[in-house]
Amino acid sequence: MSLSPQWLDELRARTTLSTLIGKTIKVQKAGREYKACCPFHNEKTPSFTINDEKGFYHCFGCGAHGDAIRWMTDQRGLPFLDAVKELAAAAGMEVPAPDPRAAKRAEKARSLHDVTAAAQGWFEAQLAGQEGTQATAYLARRGISDATRRSFGLGYAPDSRGRLKAALHEFPEDMLVESGMLIQPEDGNRDSYDRFRGRLMIPIRDQRGRVIAFGGRILGPGEPKYLNSPETPLFDKGRTLYNLDKAAPAARKAGRLIVVEGYMDVIMMAQAGICETVAPLGTALTEAQIEKLWTMVETPLLCFDGDAAGQRAALRAAHRALPLLRPGHSLAFATLPAGQDPDDLIRSAGTRALEDVLSGAIPLVELIWRHEHEALPLDTPEARAGFKQRLAELCRTISDGDIRALYSRMFKERYDALFFAPRQTPSFGGQPARRPARDQRGGRWTPPPPPPTDEARAIGASGSDAMLLRAVIAGLLRFPEEILIHREALASLTLTDERLARLLDRLIEASDIQETVETERLLTILGDSEVYNMAKGLLRADALQFTFTRAETDRQRAQRDLAEAIAVIVAMPRIDAELAAVTRAMADQLDEAGFARQQSLRKLKADLAARVAELAQPPEE
Ligand code: UTP
Ligand code: MN
Repeated sequence: MSLSPQWLDELRARTTLSTLIGKTIKVQKAGREYKACCPFHNEKTPSFTINDEKGFYHCFGCGAHGDAIRWMTDQRGLPFLDAVKELAAAAGMEVPAPDPRAAKRAEKARSLHDVTAAAQGWFEAQLAGQEGTQATAYLARRGISDATRRSFGLGYAPDSRGRLKAALHEFPEDMLVESGMLIQPEDGNRDSYDRFRGRLMIPIRDQRGRVIAFGGRILGPGEPKYLNSPETPLFDKGRTLYNLDKAAPAARKAGRLIVVEGYMDVIMMAQAGICETVAPLGTALTEAQIEKLWTMVETPLLCFDGDAAGQRAALRAAHRALPLLRPGHSLAFATLPAGQDPDDLIRSAGTRALEDVLSGAIPLVELIWRHEHEALPLDTPEARAGFKQRLAELCRTISDGDIRALYSRMFKERYDALFFAPRQTPSFGGQPARRPARDQRGGRWTPPPPPPTDEARAIGASGSDAMLLRAVIAGLLRFPEEILIHREALASLTLTDERLARLLDRLIEASDIQETVETERLLTILGDSEVYNMAKGLLRADALQFTFTRAETDRQRAQRDLAEAIAVIVAMPRIDAELAAVTRAMADQLDEAGFARQQSLRKLKADLAARVAELAQPPEE
């Protein structure tokens, strides 16, 4: 069997290497790449890096290096063909059957590139020549500079049925047809003729910069406005993004990647200095295109027309992305003024205006919420229930469990805040605690907002922090001298479990007495049997895997960990309270600052939870 280099390239392109490797070893995002402890040699600090964009892994420790196929053969130990088959199955590709003509086909695919390259050169020459005057004037009218024309390789197809065919006569006719440059009439009797006639020619390049197809724009009125190459062995519309080869390095530099709707938008934006822009080819974004975007940036920014069609397109992309979401990857959405594309906006209002639109982008989760929220009136219980159900259905399409749960929670919090919560917006922590009360004589007086509700401050309500709380109390029983040290923090807690609250109160009270620095002594002065039994039970609870809850333990380490756990327990309800406040405020007015704060609070929570999980690990000796 011979697999063509093109087919193998496609297989590599369709495989996300970090995901593949992540199935076998733990990989961690590190900037644009991923890091892991190298599976090819023994190491404790990760020197193994994975670059999805290039499709390679590399170990700086032992020099192991390869692509997805090498991973399967070298790490997984598969024979080459099995490796290819397994990757192909995962990528939804069919492994070509053994075929003696395969090599010839590969050869041909290579030369189809030669055909499109030759056509490209010829179109450019026509634009520069006598026949190109009309097209040149058209470009001038649209404000496209010579430099831009050259850098995008724009050309002109004269209005003739046979000029290109004649110019490319060095290639066999069937190749000209197969590359999409000529049309072969169905009946077979008539001659093939030039597909593109009297059009401004926009070459479409693949990620490696090779011309694979063309979009041809009509210069005056007429249909279709753009004529595109058909699907060919070189051109798979749903997997191609216009300008990807230039946008990828620019995106790396700029740290963002913008998706717009049209060729001309990409071209005008580049002329305005925004080079990190791609466009699909007149179709809705496909899954493959979304995945491709994610190999370059975590959150591609989709920029759509504010009119109904543009907003439908945005929503379609959003819905399509949900099942594909992975931690760290999402989409953002910027909405243009209705009826204007980026090209129009730059020409009418300048690059600044477009940058303003881009900086107003909202996250995917927000787009979905807003759309459902605004879709229908929500003034009856039935309508509200329908709204809730639609959100739930959308959540269900998210396949990543963590992300699904977070979307659900976020929607639920917002929903509750919208329909059930009082409309005040209490602040917390760093935010000003109260709104300035107006001068009473001046008219209305605004009462200061209430403090966070008790539910928000109470801890121990959810499973994981209940577990941590019990562990902390068990730790205090084991190391009673710590109670006094953390007394203030402990006293500030509001526990949901009444019996635990009573036990903690007793411990704090007891810490006043000298005798409480030993566990046995402490137990004897705890008093009533219920509290005593509970304390005994917590001391026995060896299911809790913290250093401070184990009998055999390094004392210093246990004390340090206990202090950290207490800090988490104190911080969590504050974060929750602020999060609730921010969420409530956003129900009244959706704003970017609020959203950013919400995101950072969520991140903080996740970080603390991760730290707790680390503390809960038995140490590996
Ligand atoms: P638009 O109709 O928005 O065109 O199509 P545009 O990009 O603003 O073009 P100008 O400014 O009028 O020249 C957006 C994209 O949809 C595809 C093209 O990829 C186009 O860039 N399209 C549009 C077609 O493929 N065929 C068409 O007939 C029209
Ligand atoms: Mn346009």
